[in-house]
Amino acid sequence: MTMAAWANEEMGSGVCAECHAAIAKQYAITGMARTAGAVSPRLVPAGEFTHAPSSVRYRLEEKDKGIEMQFSRAGSDWSGARRLEWFVGSGGLGRSFLFSAGSFLFQAPISYYASSGKWQISPGYERLPRMDLTRAVEGACLQCHASRTQPIAGTQNGFAQPPFLEGGVSCERCHGAGKAHVEAMRRGAKASTAIVNPAKLDAAARDSVCAQCHLTGAARVARRNAGSARYQPGARLSDTLAVFVWPQMDGSPDATSHYERLNRSACKKASGDKLWCGSCHDPHGAREQSAAHYRARCESCHRQKGCAEKAAVRQARGNDCVACHMPKGESHMVEHVAFTDHGIVRRAPGAMRERGARELTAFFPGAEERDLAMAYSVVAMTEPAVRLRALQLLEAAAARDKEDVAVLAQLAQFRDRMGRADLAEPLYERVLLLDPGHGAAAVNLGIYRVKRGDTAGAISLWERALRRNPAQTGVRTNLAVALAQSGKLAEAEAALLQALEYDPDAEAPRRLLGEIRGRR
Ligand code: HEC
Ligand code: HEC
Ligand code: HEC
Ligand code: HEC
Ligand code: HEC
Ligand code: HEC
Ligand code: HEC
Repeated sequence: MTMAAWANEEMGSGVCAECHAAIAKQYAITGMARTAGAVSPRLVPAGEFTHAPSSVRYRLEEKDKGIEMQFSRAGSDWSGARRLEWFVGSGGLGRSFLFSAGSFLFQAPISYYASSGKWQISPGYERLPRMDLTRAVEGACLQCHASRTQPIAGTQNGFAQPPFLEGGVSCERCHGAGKAHVEAMRRGAKASTAIVNPAKLDAAARDSVCAQCHLTGAARVARRNAGSARYQPGARLSDTLAVFVWPQMDGSPDATSHYERLNRSACKKASGDKLWCGSCHDPHGAREQSAAHYRARCESCHRQKGCAEKAAVRQARGNDCVACHMPKGESHMVEHVAFTDHGIVRRAPGAMRERGARELTAFFPGAEERDLAMAYSVVAMTEPAVRLRALQLLEAAAARDKEDVAVLAQLAQFRDRMGRADLAEPLYERVLLLDPGHGAAAVNLGIYRVKRGDTAGAISLWERALRRNPAQTGVRTNLAVALAQSGKLAEAEAALLQALEYDPDAEAPRRLLGEIRGRR
C-alpha cells in the first residue's frame, strides 16, 4: 500500500473510542498515548540555565499561550528566540521540543527533565561550542512518537500544518488502518472484521508491531524493494526494514533496545515465541511498576524451578525479581534517563564493555548484502574502524545493482571523502539522474561544478538542495561564495543573512558577511 492510500484509511483514535470506550480511556493515560503533541503554556514550568561549553544562556518563558525559548550570550548583544511548538516525550522521564521555520521542522537544543525538574541541554548537544538550531526533524522521529504524520514529499524535514494529526501512538499504529472495520461494525456486522489483533498474528508479525518502534539496533536500513511502502500492522517488519545489531560481547549490554535485549535473554531463547512484550506489559495500560505484577509474570514460568539465590537474601530485597534480574541502567539512546535492562540477566553485570572485532549481524532473516553495506556505512559515521568494510561492501553492492540510489549515493560520499574526485563525481551525476531530488548528491556535485568553473551550475544545484531543507548552513555559505564570485554581491549578502536567520550562532557566514560588506 502506498503511503497516501494508507493515510486515507486511518480514522484516528477518536473514532475507535466511539465503540471501545473503556480501552480508549485506559490507554489515554499511558506514556505511548501522550508521547507527542502541541505545546501548551502549562505543559512545563518556566526556567533558565547556561550551557557552559557554548556559554549560551537559555530562558524558557510563557508567551502568547505557548512557550518561548530565548537565547543570549553573556557579554555580547547577540540574542534571539524561537517559539516551541511541539513536544516529543510524555514527560515521564523527559521532553524534547520542536520548532518550525516556515514549513520546516527542527529540534530545539534544550529538553525538560522530569526527574530533576530542570531544563538542560538536549542529548547530543552537550559538548557543542556553538548553539545549533539546524537539526532537521526527519520522518523517523515523528514516525515513532506521533501518528498520521504529514511529511511534504521531496523535502527532508518539511511538514504540512500540523505535522501530525495525532500526537502519540494511535490505536491504528498497532491495529492497522481501521476504515474497513469501522464501516463493517457500523453496518452491524456480527463478528469483528478487517482489523488486526496482534495477539492473533504469528509470532514474527505480532512482535513486529512493537519492534517498529522498540527495535533500534545499530542501524535500521530501508529495504531496497520496499519503495514507498511503509510497515503496517499484520505484516513483518523485515519486509520493509532490515535491522542490524552487534553480537553480544561477553555479557556486555551492547544491545540498544528493549526488543533486542529481551531476545538475547535466556528466558526468550528457551521459551521462544511464547515470551513477548505482551507477556509482561498490557499494551493499553499504564506501565506497571509494582514488584508483585512482574513477580507474577516471572512465576508463570518459573514456579517449578525457581530462583537459585538464598531465600533470606531475596526476602531482604522484597522478593523483587526485577530488582535483581532486570536492573535499571543508563540508556544508550536517551541520556540522563535510566532504562530497564531487558536482557534478564543471571547476575547484574558490572562495567563490562570490552570491544573486540565486531561484525554487524542481521536481526531478522532475509536481509541482503546491500542492506549490510548500508548498515556499515551508517555505523562508519561514528566508528572509523569499520570504514574500509563499509566501502568494500558498497563497491560490491553498487557493481551488482547500478540503479540502487541509496547505495550509489553512499558510495559516492565515501569516494568523495577519500579524495577520489574521479570516481565520486560521475557517481553523483548518476544518482541525480536516477533521483533528481537527492539532497546530498546535489550538495556535493555542486562543489565539483565550482572546481570546474561552472559556478552557475553549482548555484542551481545548491538552490535545489536548499529547497529540501533551507537550514543547511554550509550549503548556503557555499552558495553565497559562488554568488559573490559571479559578482552578485547583493544576492550573496542576502544568502548569508538567511543562513544566519536559520543558524544565528554560525561562524562562517558571519565572517563572510563582514568581508562582503567590507568589499561593497
Ligand atoms: C462502530 C463500532 C466500532 C468502531 C468505531 C470500532 N470498533 Fe473495533 N470492534 C467493534 C466490535 C463490535 C468488535 C467485536 C467485539 C469486541 O471484540 O469488542 C470490535 C473488535 C475489535 C478488535 C478485536 C478484533 C479481533 O479479531 O480480536 C480490535 C483490535 C478492534 N476492534 C480495534 C478497533 C480500532 C483500532 C478501531 C478504530 C480504528 C475500532 N476498533 C473501531 C466495534 C467497533
Ligand atoms: C525507532 C523509533 C524512535 C525514534 C526514531 C525516536 N524515538 Fe524517542 N523513543 C522511542 C521509544 C521506544 C522510547 C521509549 C524508551 C525506549 O524504548 O528507549 C523513546 C523515548 C524518548 C524520550 C523520553 C520520553 C519519556 O519521557 O519517557 C524522548 C524525549 C524522545 N524519545 C525523543 C525523541 C526525539 C526528539 C526523536 C527524533 C529526533 C526520537 N525520540 C526518535 C522511539 C523512538
Ligand atoms: C501499543 C500497541 C497498541 C495500541 C496503541 C493499542 N492496542 Fe489494542 N491491542 C494491542 C494488543 C497487543 C492486543 C492484544 C492483547 C492480548 O490479547 O494479549 C490488543 C487488543 C485490542 C482489542 C481486542 C481485545 C480486547 O482487549 O478487547 C481491542 C478491541 C483493542 N485492542 C482496541 C484498541 C483501541 C480502541 C486502541 C486505541 C485507544 C488500542 N487498541 C490501542 C495493542 C495495542
Ligand atoms: C509507533 C511507535 C510505537 C509502537 C508501535 C509501540 N510503542 Fe511502546 N513506546 C513508544 C514510545 C515513543 C514510548 C515512550 C513514550 C513516552 O514518551 O513516555 C513507548 C513506551 C512504551 C512503554 C513504557 C510505557 C510507560 O507508560 O512508561 C511500554 C511498556 C511500551 N512502550 C510497550 C510497547 C508494546 C508492548 C508495544 C507493542 C504491542 C509497543 N510498545 C508498541 C512507541 C511505540
Ligand atoms: C515465558 C516464560 C518465562 C518468563 C515469563 C520468564 N522466564 Fe526466565 N526463563 C525461562 C526459561 C525457559 C529459562 C531457561 C530455563 C531455566 O533456567 O529455567 C529462563 C531462564 C531464566 C534465568 C536464568 C538466566 C541465565 O542466564 O541462566 C533467570 C535469571 C530468569 N529466567 C529470570 C526471570 C525473571 C526474573 C523473570 C520475570 C521478570 C522471568 N525470568 C520471566 C522462561 C521464562
Ligand atoms: C519479563 C518481563 C518483561 C518483558 C517480556 C518485557 N518487559 Fe518491558 N519492562 C519490564 C519491567 C520489569 C520494566 C520496568 C518497570 C518499572 O518501571 O519498574 C519494563 C519497562 C519497560 C519500558 C519503560 C522504560 C524502561 O526501560 O524502564 C519499556 C519502553 C518497555 N519495558 C518495553 C518493552 C518492550 C518493547 C518489550 C518487548 C520487546 C518488553 N518491554 C518486554 C518487564 C518486561
Ligand atoms: C536478591 C536478588 C534476587 C532476587 C530478589 C531474585 N533473584 Fe533470582 N537469582 C539471583 C542470583 C544472584 C542468581 C544466580 C545464582 C547463581 O548464579 O548461583 C539468581 C538465579 C535465578 C534463576 C536461575 C536459577 C538456575 O538454577 O539457573 C532464576 C530462574 C531466577 N533467579 C528467578 C528469580 C525469580 C522468578 C525471582 C522473583 C520471584 C528472583 N529470581 C528473585 C538473585 C535474585
